[in-house]
Amino acid sequence: MTKSNTMWGGRFAEGPDAIMEAINASIGFDRRMARQDIEGSRAHAAMLAATGIVTASDAEAIREGLLTVLSEIESGTFDYSTALEDIHMNVEARLTELIGAPAGRLHTARSRNDQVALDFRMWVRDQADAAIDALPRLMAALVDQAEAGADWVMPGFTHLQTAQPVTWGHHMLAYVEMFARDLGRMQDARRRMNECPLGTAALAGTSFPIDREMTAKELGFDRPAANSLDAVSDRDFALEFLSAATICAMHLSRLAEELVIWSSAQFRFVRLSDRWSTGSSIMPQKRNPDAAELLRAKIGRILGAQVALLTVMKGLPLTYSKDMQEDKEQVFDAADSLMLALAAMTGMVSDMTAEKENLEAAASSGFSTATDLADWLVRVLDLPFREAHHVTGALVKLAEEAGIDLPELSMEQMHAVEPRITEDVFEVLGVRNSVASRTSYGGTAPDNVRAQAARWKEKLA
Ligand code: ARG
Repeated sequence: MTKSNTMWGGRFAEGPDAIMEAINASIGFDRRMARQDIEGSRAHAAMLAATGIVTASDAEAIREGLLTVLSEIESGTFDYSTALEDIHMNVEARLTELIGAPAGRLHTARSRNDQVALDFRMWVRDQADAAIDALPRLMAALVDQAEAGADWVMPGFTHLQTAQPVTWGHHMLAYVEMFARDLGRMQDARRRMNECPLGTAALAGTSFPIDREMTAKELGFDRPAANSLDAVSDRDFALEFLSAATICAMHLSRLAEELVIWSSAQFRFVRLSDRWSTGSSIMPQKRNPDAAELLRAKIGRILGAQVALLTVMKGLPLTYSKDMQEDKEQVFDAADSLMLALAAMTGMVSDMTAEKENLEAAASSGFSTATDLADWLVRVLDLPFREAHHVTGALVKLAEEAGIDLPELSMEQMHAVEPRITEDVFEVLGVRNSVASRTSYGGTAPDNVRAQAARWKEKLA
């Protein structure tokens, strides 16, 4: 007969089946919240003393003992037990071994339900902080690229077909805008999650005269959560973190996809540094963008975590159900993936070199200034835009048939389509003039790019 659980086994004659123990235990993964658990318990103990619920000397013994437990965990000497289920009971059991009777007073006016809600919230908050720290570094790397290449011309694409010339800097700053929104979403999520569930106890609150303001403040929260039923069963904080992470991972994936395409032999728009490329074991010429490919894939795990947690939560009646123990592993994995992806992208972007000449050559092919030609016909010859579009289409067809680009068409060829065209038209057919003319707010003109890059630099400083 196995022994009943030392923490809750009072009414049990027998211990759990081995498989029951295996399915029930979370210590294999929730040990990642050890620091948060101990921090929360130390704040709780201090509050129990301040409110006279336990004596100052017992609270002191608990607080000191918890520091010893933490140092054992951090130095790797802590002996985790599956029989003790989770990090909460592992810590408390070790505390009992260390300090004896006073340890039994720590769990006064508290439950594992508010304890795990607190630990997990603090863990996710730390990850949000890490992302809030990492995103501006990625943005700064992109701004540096934008500044360097404010007037490098490249093809802008729609449907991955050459559309209009744009500038390298403008393209880089497009991602800065995306990551800025990701940063804002992380900050919003962090703000909303910053309410403390500790002291809501099992689900209904407690009859002890606790001071929830005190623990909330001590643990860096803005306020205690206002409804105990909600506080013990809310996992929105993790879901919002995952939502922000998923959208950010989608942006990382899009940029990664561009780097994969751009670094190919067919494009040669960028050269990834040796530090961010890998070789092939059989093809000596290869420089593979493995990091970009892995980054492109990371969204699968992160979105997967979000779907998994939403699915766990969606049918749960209030309040805590053990289903909620399934909330952690995928969030841990998603957070790890996001942080690694952000760091890798920052490194890759900082190190990569744009192949200026190739960018400009590509920008000049594919009739990329056809819109400039149509606009010229509107502006100078006063054609309605629809007619200008038609005339330009005919000129593109002519050039295509002749196997040349628009600027190479002769005056005679142009006059065959529209006799009023003058030599001035050639000015708008060059890609540099094209990008320089896009001065509308938010447009790709180098001056705009320089102004936006400067704005971001100041903001990020
Ligand atoms: N390990 C549990 C979890 O992660 C802690 C909470 C247990 N609460 C309970 N009422 N059994 O959810």
